[in-house]
Amino acid sequence: MANTNLANAKSAKNDEFYTQYQDIQKEINAYLEYDPNVFRGKTVLLPCDDPEWSNFTKFFAQNFEAFGLKKLISTSYAVESKKIKEWKPTLFETESPYYDADKSRTNGKIFVLNEDTNGDGRFNIEDLQWSYLNGDGDFRSDEVKALRDEADIIITNPPFSLFREFFSWIMEAGKKFVIIGHQNAITYKEVFPYIKSNEVWLGLGFSGGATHFFSNYHDFATAGNHIEGMIRVSGVVWFTNIDHGRRHEPLPLMTMEDNIIYSKHKEVRGIGYKHYENYDAIDIPYTDAIPADYEGEMGVPKTFLDKYCPEQFEIIGLGHGNLGVALGIKPYDRALKKLNQGMRDGDLFYIENGAPVVPYTRIIIRKKQ
Ligand SMILES: C[S@@+](CC[C@H](N)C(=O)[O-])C[C@H]1O[C@@H](n2cnc3c(N)ncnc32)[C@H](O)[C@@H]1O
Repeated sequence: MANTNLANAKSAKNDEFYTQYQDIQKEINAYLEYDPNVFRGKTVLLPCDDPEWSNFTKFFAQNFEAFGLKKLISTSYAVESKKIKEWKPTLFETESPYYDADKSRTNGKIFVLNEDTNGDGRFNIEDLQWSYLNGDGDFRSDEVKALRDEADIIITNPPFSLFREFFSWIMEAGKKFVIIGHQNAITYKEVFPYIKSNEVWLGLGFSGGATHFFSNYHDFATAGNHIEGMIRVSGVVWFTNIDHGRRHEPLPLMTMEDNIIYSKHKEVRGIGYKHYENYDAIDIPYTDAIPADYEGEMGVPKTFLDKYCPEQFEIIGLGHGNLGVALGIKPYDRALKKLNQGMRDGDLFYIENGAPVVPYTRIIIRKKQ
């Protein structure tokens, strides 16, 4: 189900899902707990948003003073560019003196908060000023690029179908950021090198790695987790380069010997760990089965990154595809292909019951000395 949802989310229409207030609040609080001044004096840009009803804009405008922000900018993408048919402007827009029936469809909008416009002595959501952008609000446009360059921190849930481009757009400008993406993006060639070098990491995250988003178009949630008007997406994470406390808490782990005796995982208990055939590392099928005392390299599931503490482990590389080839994972013997059609150069494998097994994407790590 989750993978089908993800595949669907790749089409433009399925990029239209909106983040819950409580998810934003929980994540942003993690950065504030670590550094209460993380936003002080900063300009925050919320691109790919829909400020009229986005919870990102609401959350940051409401907390403008508490966070000590210098300026909040939020931009939206034009309806026409979104290729949405069933749409009409909100009352907020049509009743505004700035309403323009032509621009309403074709132009993006910009909301700015940096002054006490109503003179009530407070900076808050009431002081947001809006206008149409000159263009459609595409994050790749010069107009939005200039806003990116002005900002210190970029925060949003970008369209999943453009995640690679969006991520590169932030990195090329060297900005701080907190953005939502799918955990599969960890393995993208545009993303993984930054994770390996500890320039980018995962945020606090969603409980159980899944959450509901508001969606006008889809209702994929199954009966057990059905919420009207919402889509449930699993495997979602926050990518960031702002520090938080969880990433400095080492994982409590058992020794290899204890894992073999006590592990709750039947693949490990009484069996031990498989060694890859084409790379000098052992396979760790579950993050909580990492042996605390193993000195060599280990292949761990990518969900390890939810628990990754850079003081405890170092990331060596990715045991998968082209990045696996670059890491030095040896090509497999072509005769083995008959036994496992899914094998590709760069993928790790071990032998089980005489046949090659390619585990799901592994990150290669090693205990810090
Ligand atoms: C996943 S939604 C998230 C919206 C909002 N940030 C939130 O989480 O509540 C992504 C938004 O990006 C917009 N979008 C799609 N392509 C875009 C582009 N090229 N430039 C800017 N925004 C885009 C979509 O229309 C959509 O409103």
